[in-house]
Amino acid sequence: MLQKITVIGAGNVGATCAQRAAEKELADVVLVDVVEGMPQGKGLDLCEAATIEMHDALITGSNGFEATAGSDVIIVTAGIARKPGMSRDDLIKTNAGIVHNVVAAAAKLSPQAVLIIVSNPLDAMCHVALKASGFPPERVIGMAGVLDSARFRFFIAEALDVSVENCHAFVLGGHGDTMVPLPRLSNVSGIPLPELLPADKIAALCQRTAQGGAEIVALLKTGSAYYAPASAAVEMAEAILKDKKKVLPCAAYLTGQYGYNDLFIGVPVKLGKGGVLKVMEIALNAEEKAALDKSAEAVRGLVKTLSDLGF
Ligand code: NAI
Ligand code: 2OP
Repeated sequence: MLQKITVIGAGNVGATCAQRAAEKELADVVLVDVVEGMPQGKGLDLCEAATIEMHDALITGSNGFEATAGSDVIIVTAGIARKPGMSRDDLIKTNAGIVHNVVAAAAKLSPQAVLIIVSNPLDAMCHVALKASGFPPERVIGMAGVLDSARFRFFIAEALDVSVENCHAFVLGGHGDTMVPLPRLSNVSGIPLPELLPADKIAALCQRTAQGGAEIVALLKTGSAYYAPASAAVEMAEAILKDKKKVLPCAAYLTGQYGYNDLFIGVPVKLGKGGVLKVMEIALNAEEKAALDKSAEAVRGLVKTLSDLGF
């Protein structure tokens, strides 16, 4: 029997997550959305595609939570997305209410699940999900660093005209303008990035990475990115379901690591069965630590806004 992934929010990111997870035959997928008929329609469409894509994962859609019971992984994409001129932080009030309600409902029916939060503003929504679920922190994880690093990796591959498969990059910090790309720890087949590109070119790639979400919002005009975000969330789900012990940058709840307490922020973690198996602490130089501190402050500001809003 396949494992079960619930995807809450069957919009652009959610439906693409369902498609990717099913095509990898990772799990049966339950898609949940408030829009009547929409998750059912997308589920049926994906099942019909399965006969051509050749997988036996079952995708069902629902407007309620009953079918989600016993999920192993729950991916939360419900909420509103950015439009041009909006920052991720502009979404906080609406999405906090939505994330709180859907997580509380889903967690009750799947008490052993691992939650992967996608809804923005990401790091703040992880705090909402932790509280609403009552889960231990290792089972509440935010998706951002995998996406931000994927963007950085693509920009490096493009700049050097090499395969994306050879490009490795790390982006830490909150999922916002203050995110922290780490060129010193990025490489192409083990060759450190600073040996391959001049400093000004690397700085431009870091800047493009930090603005990566806004670049796509400006092009799409009606919403935000979803192909790469879905790939990133499903990579995390796969690491958990297959107990792969992958080291990935994710928003994790810190209890003193990197000098931060009671805060979700992007750091390298080992992901496997049960969620975050370990927060990997790496030595940062003074400049990197200062940038991470600035990013942590930005996340703390959002957590304060949440508390002012009653979350
Ligand atoms: P979308 O608008 O296409 O889909 C959101 C879906 O959530 C809609 O179908 C809506 O009906 C549904 N929804 C709203 N309230 C709900 C509720 N109470 N229960 C169930 N479903 C509900 O938006 P998209 O592009 O899929 O983005 C979803 C979220 O993910 C946004 O907040 C966006 O900012 C965020 N995002 C985060 C990324 C990250 O790196 N963490 C990357 C990309 C998107
Ligand atoms: C992104 O980075 C909007 O957070 C979303 O594309």
